[in-house]
Amino acid sequence: MTQDELKDAVAAAAIDEVRPHLHRDTVLGIGTGSTANRFIDRLAALRHDFAGAVASSEASAERLRGHGIEVFELNSVGTVPVYVDGADEVNAHLYMIKGGGAALTREKIVAACAERFVCIADASKKVECLGGFPLPVEVIPMARSYVARELVRLGADPVYRQGVTTDNGNQILDCFDFMIDDPQAMEARLNAIVGVVTNGLFAARGADVLLLGTERGVERLLPA
Ligand code: 5RP
Repeated sequence: MTQDELKDAVAAAAIDEVRPHLHRDTVLGIGTGSTANRFIDRLAALRHDFAGAVASSEASAERLRGHGIEVFELNSVGTVPVYVDGADEVNAHLYMIKGGGAALTREKIVAACAERFVCIADASKKVECLGGFPLPVEVIPMARSYVARELVRLGADPVYRQGVTTDNGNQILDCFDFMIDDPQAMEARLNAIVGVVTNGLFAARGADVLLLGTERGVERLLPA
């Protein structure tokens, strides 16, 4: 199967995962990226079965609206019963690296409000140790050089993602050559650097379930 077919398979499986949560007043949390897009496209057929969604990016909000799904401001919604999103890497604890699409901060905010985080990913995303994918760090623009120097002190090789401005008006540093032994500690350590908005480690709030697209079918994995 191709990677696209595996993404389609997990998007379909995610529909089955959220279906029990769909009621007239349900507001779903929706992530960002090519896997999340496939989920959004499938959700369109169920748009009359729930109230709408909060989105982790302007791109996803636009896609949802394009399907006739109402998009709510997070501040007008209480908790979100389920958040569905992809990942750039995920380990056995269902800790993740996210932010390949530069939406990490809003993704982390929606995830924090979610009672349940459903991660959807193809098999290439499952890793033993996080860090093969360069870890994104969202920074306030004027702090970029300072934060980069601090990241070097921690052992990373940060690279400015040229030409990218996040939905929050900030910039991204991608940390290369930065294998992460203790994701929870590193997430907190990076967030403590002045000028960092957030980083792409999702360990303090990992996923509750991983739907992993493999050649053998979609595996439903819980945190180790
Ligand atoms: C965007 C993300 C995405 O979830 C992540 O990049 C995975 O994307 P894709 O589904 O296209 O592989 O974190 O900021």
